[in-house]
Amino acid sequence: MSVNIAAPRSQRLDPKYVRGPKSRGNFEMLAWLFMRLSGVVLVVLIFGHLFANLMTGTGINALSFGFVAGKWANPVWQFWDLALLWLSMLHGTNGVRTIINDYAEKHATRAWLKGILYVATIFIVVLGSLVIFTFDPCVAGSDLAQCR
Ligand code: HEM
Repeated sequence: MSVNIAAPRSQRLDPKYVRGPKSRGNFEMLAWLFMRLSGVVLVVLIFGHLFANLMTGTGINALSFGFVAGKWANPVWQFWDLALLWLSMLHGTNGVRTIINDYAEKHATRAWLKGILYVATIFIVVLGSLVIFTFDPCVAGSDLAQCR
């Protein structure tokens, strides 16, 4: 049985829109470039993250609340994780935006899906950034050495 997925039909590829009143200058070209550049940086950030968490010390057995507290006591890891959060979210959001533009046929459907996508992205980026910079290892009940 062969599966037939309709060919994508991005507005941006339709000559009628490319130079029309809705043209958005270089935005799509910059977005295309961003996917490649952020992809390269993500490889470094992701493998650095996996190496530090799984290959050093006792590996996966070391992962705990205290391990995270220890990492986020160091500003290098705070900014590493912040960069990972922001880049992966912007990369993933832009990728899903492209898929929505390619496959959602009605204007209203496209607008709704992208609206939900952007709200979810802002929520996760803001919440994640707040967690990284307001994280307090000494919550009630914590028995970490530095809290005693
Ligand atoms: C190892 C790191 C990664 C690399 C090297 C990478 C690379 C890429 C590249 C080059 C594209 C563009 C493909 C195209 O235009 O045809 C892409 C698309 C995409 N990426 Fe990534 N990516 C990485 C990680 C991620 C992560 C962490 C996410 C999710 C948060 C993600 C989600 C997406 C999505 C949704 C698309 C759009 C797919 C499509 O257009 O069919 N990627 N990626």
